[in-house]
Amino acid sequence: MAEIVLATRNQGKVREVKRIFRKLLPAARFVSLAGFPKAREVRETGNTLEENAGKKARYAAGVSGLPALAEDSGIFVDALGGRPGVKSSRYSSKGDAANNKKMLHELRGVPAGKRGAAYKCVAALAVPGGRVFFARGECRGKIGFVEKGKNGFGYDPLFIPAGFAKTFAELGPRVKDGMSHRKRALKRILPAVKRLA
Ligand code: IMP
Repeated sequence: MAEIVLATRNQGKVREVKRIFRKLLPAARFVSLAGFPKAREVRETGNTLEENAGKKARYAAGVSGLPALAEDSGIFVDALGGRPGVKSSRYSSKGDAANNKKMLHELRGVPAGKRGAAYKCVAALAVPGGRVFFARGECRGKIGFVEKGKNGFGYDPLFIPAGFAKTFAELGPRVKDGMSHRKRALKRILPAVKRLA
């Protein structure tokens, strides 16, 4: 199977993508974009997850000459009109811990029944000089009142998936990988990845 460049520097995502693929397609071999000296950071200036994922995948395929898999994801909170959405990583401009504090602050006084949210993910697979394939995944849940749990990354200590009473950070990788937005998007892009072989 061809090597695939993983076009992300977010270590939480790298860990999850590799873990998910170990189950979906154990033969897949990933290399990091960091191994290509010419590669630089792609600015996520798009207004949609599709735009950013496509841009990252196309850039990585171009600079490496290999098929490239990228993803863009975010958390869309109902009571905040869908914010922070595509801007989730830059919500507070001060990193994951500050993002979670800001979200709790913005949701103060919002009752349990109105704290609905969705994690969304768009995966993009770009073939050098060729097409870009896209796939979407979503996971609904709600935002808790305090941070709980040590697993995962980003908003996981706040996100309680539908049907559960604990956060993704408490539930751990097995539960998260079974239902996450990332798992759903990667599963849908699997046929395009298999065609690379
Ligand atoms: P980006 O796709 O690099 O723009 O970053 C997406 C941001 O959304 C991450 O930095 C996290 O803040 C958040 N996010 C996306 N997926 C997850 C997840 O599975 N767990 C926790 N936070 C996530």
